[in-house]
Amino acid sequence: MTDSTLAGRDTAALDDPVGQALRGRHAHLARRLGRAATYLPGVATFASVSVGPGAAEWDDLAALLGPGELADMFSCPAVPPPDWEPVFTLEGRQMIWSGTARPGHLPAQAETGVVELGADRVAEMLGLVARTSPGPFWPRTHELGTYLGVQDDGVLVAMAGERLKPPGWTEISAVCTAPEARGRGHAARLVAALVARIVARGERPFLHVAEANTDAIALYERLGFTTRRKVTFRGFRTP
Ligand SMILES: CC(C)(COP(=O)(O)OP(=O)(O)OC[C@H]1O[C@@H](n2cnc3c(N)ncnc32)[C@H](O)[C@@H]1OP(=O)(O)O)[C@@H](O)C(=O)NCCC(=O)NCCS
Repeated sequence: MTDSTLAGRDTAALDDPVGQALRGRHAHLARRLGRAATYLPGVATFASVSVGPGAAEWDDLAALLGPGELADMFSCPAVPPPDWEPVFTLEGRQMIWSGTARPGHLPAQAETGVVELGADRVAEMLGLVARTSPGPFWPRTHELGTYLGVQDDGVLVAMAGERLKPPGWTEISAVCTAPEARGRGHAARLVAALVARIVARGERPFLHVAEANTDAIALYERLGFTTRRKVTFRGFRTP
C-alpha cells in the first residue's frame, strides 16, 4: 500500500473505536443489550453507547454491567446521567501511522527475535504489565489480536499487541519494556513488527497514549505516528 492510499483511508471509524470494534470484528468478544455494548469480563473493560445517547441507552448499559460496576467509556465524550459517579478522567491523544517513519527509526529486521505470545504466556504478560503500567491489560486481552514479545534468556522483557479493531484499522497497545531492558530498541522493534503485519493486511495502525507519557509519544512520533486528535478517557460507576 502506498503512502497516498494510506493517507486517503477513512478515519471516521476512529471517532468511536470501541463501539466500532464491539459491533464488528470483536462481536464474538462482546456483550450487548439494546445499543449498549461492552467486552466480555477478562477481555477488556471498555463499554460503548452511541455518541449523544438517550437515557434508555444508559439504562441498557447499566443493566448490562450491573449496579455499582465500572463503566469504562474509553474516549467516548457522551455524558451519563448525574447518578453515574465519575471514577477517573485521563487526558490522552489518538495517533495514526502516517505511512513513513523518520529515516533510520523503523527497524528493517523488526521480526528478528520477536515471538508470538499466546494463552500459555498470559502470566508473564500480566507480570510485565504489573511492572511497567502500559495501560489496562487483563487475562483474556490477548484474544483481541496478535501479541508479540522479546525475550532475554527465555524471560519476557518487552511486549506489544493489537487491541481495538474498528473497520480498516488496528490499534497497537500494551507497549512495554521491563525497566532493566529499556533503551535497546525493543519497543521500536515490536511496534515496527506490528505496523508491518497490520499494513500487510491492508489496514492502518493507530494507538492511544496518555498526554503525560512524553517518552512514549516521542517514540511513536519517531516511528511515524502523528496525532489525529486529543481525547479524554473517562470512567463512571453505574448507579
Ligand atoms: C515507552 C517504552 C515502551 C519504551 O521502551 P524501550 O524498549 O526502552 O524503547 P526503545 O528502546 O525502542 O526506544 C526508546 C528510545 O529512547 C532511547 N533511549 C536511550 N536510552 C534509553 C533508556 N535508558 N530508556 C529508554 N529509552 C532510551 C532509545 O535509543 C530510543 O530512541 P530512538 O528511537 O531514537 O532510538 C518503555 O519506556 C516503557 O515500558 N514504559 C512504560 C510503559 C508505557 O508507558 N508504555 C507506553 C504506553 S502507550
